[in-house]
Amino acid sequence: MNYDYSEEQLLVQKTAREFAQEQLRPGVKERDDKMEYPTEQIKMLGEMGFMGMMVPEEWGGAGFDALSYCLAEEEISREDASAGVVMSVNNSLVCQLLMDWANDDQKEKYLKKLASGEWLGAFSLSEPQAGSDASNLLCTAKREGDHYVLNGIKNWVTSGINSNVVIVFAVTEKGIGHKGVSAFIVEKGIAGFTTGKKENKLGIRASDTCELYFDGCTVSAENLIANEGDGFKIAMKTLDGGRIGIASQALGIGRAALEESVRYAQERKQFSKSLSSFGAIREKIAKMSINLDAARLLTHKAAVLKDKKQSYSKASAQAKWLASKTAMEAATECVQIFGGYGYMQEYGVERLMRDAKITQIYEGTSEVQLLVIARAVMEELS
Ligand code: CAA
Repeated sequence: MNYDYSEEQLLVQKTAREFAQEQLRPGVKERDDKMEYPTEQIKMLGEMGFMGMMVPEEWGGAGFDALSYCLAEEEISREDASAGVVMSVNNSLVCQLLMDWANDDQKEKYLKKLASGEWLGAFSLSEPQAGSDASNLLCTAKREGDHYVLNGIKNWVTSGINSNVVIVFAVTEKGIGHKGVSAFIVEKGIAGFTTGKKENKLGIRASDTCELYFDGCTVSAENLIANEGDGFKIAMKTLDGGRIGIASQALGIGRAALEESVRYAQERKQFSKSLSSFGAIREKIAKMSINLDAARLLTHKAAVLKDKKQSYSKASAQAKWLASKTAMEAATECVQIFGGYGYMQEYGVERLMRDAKITQIYEGTSEVQLLVIARAVMEELS
C-alpha cells in the first residue's frame, strides 16, 4: 500500500482545512447553542465542489477520488461536525447513490444540481420500528398507472428540513421482506409530503434532523431508482460508502480532541508543573494518537479499495467501528484532561463528546458494524 498522498489530495486537504478554520470555527459554538443550520457555509462548500466530490465533472461534481473526500471530510468535521454530516450525507448517500444507480434522465434532472451544491439532498431509510432492522419498513409506495402513491412515516432524517430532494425507501410489495423495498427520488414541496420539527439533539445540533410524513403523496414512476425491489440492495451498498464518510467525520472529531488536549495540557499548571509532564496525561495523549492513526489507516484503506472498485464493505465497517469508538474515547479523555473546565460549555470540548456519540449510532450502529465484519470474516475463512 502506498502511504503518500498525491499533490491533488494534499491540496484538497489544505483547502478544506483553511476553509474550516476561517469559515466554520468562528461560529461553531453559537450554532450548536442555537441549533442554527450553517446555511452560508454549506453554500460555500457547494461552490468549492465539496458537496459532490466523487461525482465526475460531466454530472456537476468535482471528480475527486474517495481518499480526497476522506481528507476533506475530516478537516470540515475537525471544526464543525454538524457541517460534516450535511456534507457526508450529500456526498455519500445522495450523490454517490444517484451516480451508481440513477438513469441518465434522473442524473440530468437531479444529480447535476445536487453535486454542484445548487441543491441539497437527504437519505431516508429509517422508520420508528426500523432502525438497525432496516428492511422492516412500513412506508408503502403503491403503483397507480404512471405514478406511485407514498404513505408512511420516516425518521432521523439528516437534512430532512433543508434538503430539496430526498431519496426515500418504501415497500412496493408487501410480505417479501427486503426484496419488496424500492428507492425513489422525492422532491420537496409536492402534495402529501411534509416534514416534522427540527429534532433537539444531544450533538451535531446545528445540522437538521426530522421526521418525514407521506400521506397519499404522488411520485412519478420516472422517479423510481433502478427497478422495483432493488431498494434494499441500493441502501446497503450506498451505506458501505457512507460509513467511510462517517469514519472520516469521527476522525475529525477525535483529532480535535487530541489537539485541544495537547494544547491545554501544555498550558495548564497544577502542583507547579504543566499537566503535560504527568505520566497519566501523557498516556492519554499517546493512546489517543495511536488509535486515531490506526483508525485513519483503516478509513483510508477502505477509501482506496473503493477507488480501485474492489470490495470495501468489511473495510468500511471496520473503519467506522474503530473511528467512532476512538472519537468517543478521545473526546471523553479530552474532557477529563480539561477537568472542571472541560465540563463547562464555555470551553467547547464537551461539544466534542456530544458530537462523537452519534458516529457510533448513525449509518449503522457499532453493533451492526460488528455483525457486518463478523459475517465477512467468517465467509472469508470458511
Ligand atoms: N451490499 C450489497 N447487498 C447487501 C449488502 C451490501 N453491503 N448487505 C446486505 N446485502 C443484501 C444481501 O446480499 C441480501 O440479499 P439477498 O437476499 O438477495 O441475498 C439482502 O441485502 C439482505 O441482507 P441481510 O440478510 O444481510 O439483511 P439483514 O436483514 O440481516 O440486515 C444489516 C443486515 C447489516 C443489519 C442491515 O439491515 C443494516 O445495515 N442495518 C443498519 C441500517 C443502517 O445503517 N441505517 C442507517 C440509516 S441512514 C442514516 O443514518 C443516514 C443519516 O441521516 C446520517
